[in-house]
Amino acid sequence: MTIHKITIIGGGNLGSAIANGILSNQIIEPAHLTVTRRNLEALSDLKEKGAIITSENAYATQGADVVMLAVKPYLIEAVISEIREVLTPNTIVISLATGTTSQDVENWCGQKLPIFRAMPNTAIAIGESMTCMSAKNTTKEQEDAVLKLFNQMGQALIIDESLMVAATVLASCGTAFALRYIRAAVEGGVQIGFKADVATQIAAQTVKGAADLLLKNGNHPEVEIDRVTTPGGVTITGLNEMENKGLSSAVIQGHLKAYYK
Ligand SMILES: NC(=O)c1ccc[n+]([C@@H]2O[C@H](COP(=O)([O-])OP(=O)(O)OC[C@H]3O[C@@H](n4cnc5c(N)ncnc54)[C@H](OP(=O)(O)O)[C@@H]3O)[C@@H](O)[C@H]2O)c1
Repeated sequence: MTIHKITIIGGGNLGSAIANGILSNQIIEPAHLTVTRRNLEALSDLKEKGAIITSENAYATQGADVVMLAVKPYLIEAVISEIREVLTPNTIVISLATGTTSQDVENWCGQKLPIFRAMPNTAIAIGESMTCMSAKNTTKEQEDAVLKLFNQMGQALIIDESLMVAATVLASCGTAFALRYIRAAVEGGVQIGFKADVATQIAAQTVKGAADLLLKNGNHPEVEIDRVTTPGGVTITGLNEMENKGLSSAVIQGHLKAYYK
C-alpha cells in the first residue's frame, strides 16, 4: 500500500517535528498533510510550507490513510472520541502517546482497525530518529508502509508491544544518556586545552562517527574498540580508568533504574 494522506492530531513538539520530517523528506504532497491543534498560530510555519492546518479533528481525519495521535497521553481518549465516527476499518492509527497501550486505543476507537504504537526520539526533528513501534491488527503491507514512513525520518523497527517500555528507555531516554556522555567528554576536553565550542564539535562528531562505525559495519563495539587500543597505549589507559570509576556499570544500572521506575 502507499500512504497518500496523513493527519497529525496534536501539532506540538513531537507532532510538528514529524510534520516537518514528512515535508522536508517530501514523503507526501504538502497539501495531503493535515496537522491539528487548538492554537493554530503555532502551526503557521507548517501552513506556509503547504500543509493544511485546522482545529477540527474529525474534519482532519476524514479520508486520511494514516492518523497520528500526538497529544499528551491523558488527552488521547478525548481526541479519539472526536474522531471515532470518521475512522474506517482501513484507517491506520498511530499512537505516539507514552504509556497508552494499543488495546486502550482499540477500545476507545470502538472497532478493530490497524493500530501502531510508536516511540520516536527527539532526533526525528532532524531525520535521525530511532523509532520503535509495535503493531496490532496490521497486515504486512501496512507494516511495510509505516516502516517506510518512519525509515525516512531515521531508522524504524517493529518490536513486540511488551518491549515498548524498554524501547523508551534505550531509545528515548538514550538520547539524554548519550548527550550526558558528550557533555562529560567536553568538560574533559576543556580541561586538556580546548575551548568549549571546539571541544563540543570534536566530542559530538566523534560520537557520531563511532555510532556510524557500528551502524555501517555491523560490528560489535569491542571490535571497533580493539582497533583504537594500542597495547600499553593512551586509549586503554583512559578506558581502564573510566571502567575503574564504574562507567559500564553506571550505564547499565541507569538503564535498569529507568526501566523499573
Ligand atoms: N516529545 C518527545 O520526544 C516524545 C517522544 C515520544 C513520544 N511522545 C509523546 O508524544 C505526545 C506529544 O508530546 P509532545 O511533547 O509533542 O507534547 P506537546 O508539545 O504538548 O504537544 C501536544 C499538542 O497537542 C495539542 N492539543 C491538545 N489538545 C488537543 C486537541 N483536543 N486537539 C488537537 N490538538 C490538541 C496541543 O496544542 P494546543 O494546546 O494548541 O491544542 C499541543 O501542542 C505525548 O503523548 C508524548 O507521550 C513525545
